[in-house]
Amino acid sequence: MPQNDDTLDLLAIETTCDETAAAIIRGPRPPRPGVPTILSSVVASQVDLHQPFGGVVPEIASRAHTQRIVPIIDQALARAGVALADLGAVAVATRPGLAGALVVGLTAAKCLAATLEIPLVAIDHLEGHLYACQLAYPETPIYPCLGLVVSGGHTSFFHCESPLEATLLGGTIDDAAGEAFDKVASLLGLGYPGGPLIERAARGGNPRAYDFPRSFQHDERIALSFSGLKTAVLYALRGPNAHNPMPTLDQAMIADVAASFQEALVDAIVGKAKQALRQTGLQRLAIGGGVAANARLRERLTETARDLPVELYIPPLSLCTDNAALGAIAFPMLAAGLTADLDLDVTPGLVRPSQPRPKHPPRAHHAPAQTDPNAHSTSIPSDSPLSS
Ligand code: KG4
Ligand code: ZN
Repeated sequence: MPQNDDTLDLLAIETTCDETAAAIIRGPRPPRPGVPTILSSVVASQVDLHQPFGGVVPEIASRAHTQRIVPIIDQALARAGVALADLGAVAVATRPGLAGALVVGLTAAKCLAATLEIPLVAIDHLEGHLYACQLAYPETPIYPCLGLVVSGGHTSFFHCESPLEATLLGGTIDDAAGEAFDKVASLLGLGYPGGPLIERAARGGNPRAYDFPRSFQHDERIALSFSGLKTAVLYALRGPNAHNPMPTLDQAMIADVAASFQEALVDAIVGKAKQALRQTGLQRLAIGGGVAANARLRERLTETARDLPVELYIPPLSLCTDNAALGAIAFPMLAAGLTADLDLDVTPGLVRPSQPRPKHPPRAHHAPAQTDPNAHSTSIPSDSPLSS
């Protein structure tokens, strides 16, 4: 269906970490309520660039975003069949993330907002990860809910009254869940990024072979820690003596350690999610972030939600790992008048409840009507020079 007076086509840009992504999202023209739909979603992963270093190198990430951002936006527009001139707004993730990486996306978004004279919306990447659940279940209101973001940089529980009212309840005090996956995969010599590789290695292993620690399980705080778990894995492999060399690991041991590590991490997250649900009385649980792609975590959360019972919302895998479609949260922001000015800056650190969310003054905006496309959501084909 073509864009009309009741709808608005928005370009969303995502460059918080190591994915350069753009999406075209069509939603009800603000302030009309309703859940938007994704017309196209293009993600250029930088995994191949960071793999040799075993983790994301910020300088490399920023330079790759700079090279890729324009072709990625062009692809998103072409796949949606939407012309640049027909965009009604542009949204960009400005927090949290790597400073240099965020600046690339923000600069692109500002240029488009200024030249096209359309509103600019600054989105919070973590709120966007949770809003992906609403995109995945457009018929069901998912708020109020307990929001859990499990990603490479965060493992955080939020009390979400609405898409834009997320109060941090607590989370990890050290490593994020994805970071723990990545570090343990490196110890096991599996490569980067660690999450999918550990998940695959764990399939043949015994999750009870090693009794790894589950942090804060008998503590009323909404807190988690994964650094002790990572050290326990190191000791299991090499022994407690730091001077011991790392032994050669056989496949059976890798599988058992991977399965036991994954089980311990999943146990800790599921236990804390149950506690947070009990303490808040919330009846809905929404999960976002790259680690939400983990099959064992999804399975355990599904069982837990059925047993409690609470409603569980987990997006499909393509909406868990970083992508620009999570910029759809710009629609409720536009409806609330939350647009940004061109002097907008990035906020690399997590905005905690004691620091008020940056507010932006409302701006009037109008966008022309436009003709529609064959909507679809997709990633860059594997043979493209932009994919990895
Ligand atoms: O949300 P995301 O794409 O980027 C950040 O915002 O951080 O999350 C990336 C993290 C990485 O640490 C990666 O290892 C982890 O998500 N991840 C997984 C899986 N797929 C990605 N962790 C466990 N199991 C997976 N299947
Ligand atoms: Zn993310």
